[in-house]
Amino acid sequence: MLKLNRLSYNFGSNWALKDISFSLEKGDYLYVTGPSGAGKTTLLRLIFGLLPVTRGKAEVCGFTMNGIHRSALPLLRRQVSFVFQDFKILPHRTVAENVALALQARLMPEQQVRKRVRAVLRGLDMERKADTRCEVLSGGEQQRVAVARAVVTNPQLLLADEPSGNLDPELSLRLMDVFRHFNSFGTTVILATHSRELLSSHKGAKMLQLENGQMAGASAVNAPPDAEATQYAALRRQS
Ligand SMILES: Nc1ncnc2c1ncn2[C@@H]1O[C@H](COP(=O)(O)OP(=O)(O)OP(=O)(O)O)[C@@H](O)[C@H]1O
Ligand SMILES: [Mg+2]
Repeated sequence: MLKLNRLSYNFGSNWALKDISFSLEKGDYLYVTGPSGAGKTTLLRLIFGLLPVTRGKAEVCGFTMNGIHRSALPLLRRQVSFVFQDFKILPHRTVAENVALALQARLMPEQQVRKRVRAVLRGLDMERKADTRCEVLSGGEQQRVAVARAVVTNPQLLLADEPSGNLDPELSLRLMDVFRHFNSFGTTVILATHSRELLSSHKGAKMLQLENGQMAGASAVNAPPDAEATQYAALRRQS
């Protein structure tokens, strides 16, 4: 479902990512950790086609990301959702309107849209805010809208960038339950986080640790067979 082979990315002379190789199967749950500036967001942006894959290779949900045409990105994004670090929700629209947008874009009948939106908002304890404009919500509430919008389309792959950054510990755990709930129905999840607690609370999840754009550690992550795995083998011995 996802295969990266020596994926690298530079902003000018700064290598934000260097030689990242791993693969994920459907239903996997991967935490990407590492300090600020380690390359977590850059990795997710490459997977979502927000940055071009020019060094190394990436395959995502059957799409080859190298040279992917702009017209194919909407098709990719029918299968891949992204919860952004800065939410990217529409402030003047209501909660329900924000969450409904992606379903309406797929021409889902309005009654079905309303049902799905309510169900997802209920799961995130946001039902009573459904008709509130997003600009007046708290940071944590906005974050939950961003999550609702990403999961409402039932993606094959869910990318989440620090999704619990603005939440108190209890809500943060609840949110993790939501992700795990979707994961248990087969959605593959990649979650970038600084939080060690989140990791330690999820036994059996895969983990990739980034430092200065490089793989500094990994557990239970498969390297693709055709990766030049010298560096990777060294990492595996450490972890
Ligand atoms: N648009 C950009 N232009 C130039 N450099 C960038 C850009 N975006 C990221 N970088 C650089 O790439 C590196 C990786 O950044 P990235 O945002 O991927 O880190 P991160 O692990 O997500 O950090 P954080 O935990 O703070 O979100 C950093 O050195 C950053 O300064
Ligand atoms: Mg980031």
